[in-house]
Amino acid sequence: MLKNDVGIVQIDDFLSKQDFFTLKKQCKEISDNFEINRYYKEYGRFDVSFYIPDEIEFNFMEKLNSTLNLDNKLIYAQLLKYKIVDGCVPKLGVHKDALACELKITFCIEKKIDGWKFCVDNKIFEDKENSIIAFDGNKLTHFRTNYPSKSEDDFLTVLLIHTADKSYWANKVDKKYYDLITPLNVYK
Ligand SMILES: [Fe+2]
Repeated sequence: MLKNDVGIVQIDDFLSKQDFFTLKKQCKEISDNFEINRYYKEYGRFDVSFYIPDEIEFNFMEKLNSTLNLDNKLIYAQLLKYKIVDGCVPKLGVHKDALACELKITFCIEKKIDGWKFCVDNKIFEDKENSIIAFDGNKLTHFRTNYPSKSEDDFLTVLLIHTADKSYWANKVDKKYYDLITPLNVYK
């Protein structure tokens, strides 16, 4: 069994209250002021690369590794905000990922919508603030159910955190080079 073959794990109250408060504040500063050119109509979401502060990244990875008995490192993170804009409705169709990653984490930062379910491998999950859903997105099929709102005031902000074992190829790239590339273009 691969080390990262943990199935699908949801863990509530993942970060300490203080860390989550700090992280949410930083995410909100960006997600409350997204430029419209960061909006992707096909998903109905804003999408940018996001650098988690070092101390919070350390605490996040330590909790992940100790809880799931892993030796993972964070490769990169995206900040997403799903929201209706100009009639475009958030959606995430049935798919598997093709990304530099062994264990992907959907980390709910701010939720202002009820009843929008996240499904992985035929199991249904509900996003909760400061709750993670961890799974191998390259292996397990996942999608979101139909967006249950017509209001532009509703939204869901999540961090997608891509991790893999220390020995994974993407973890051998010195992060100083990340400034020279677009992380979203790092594929297998
Ligand atoms: Fe995905």
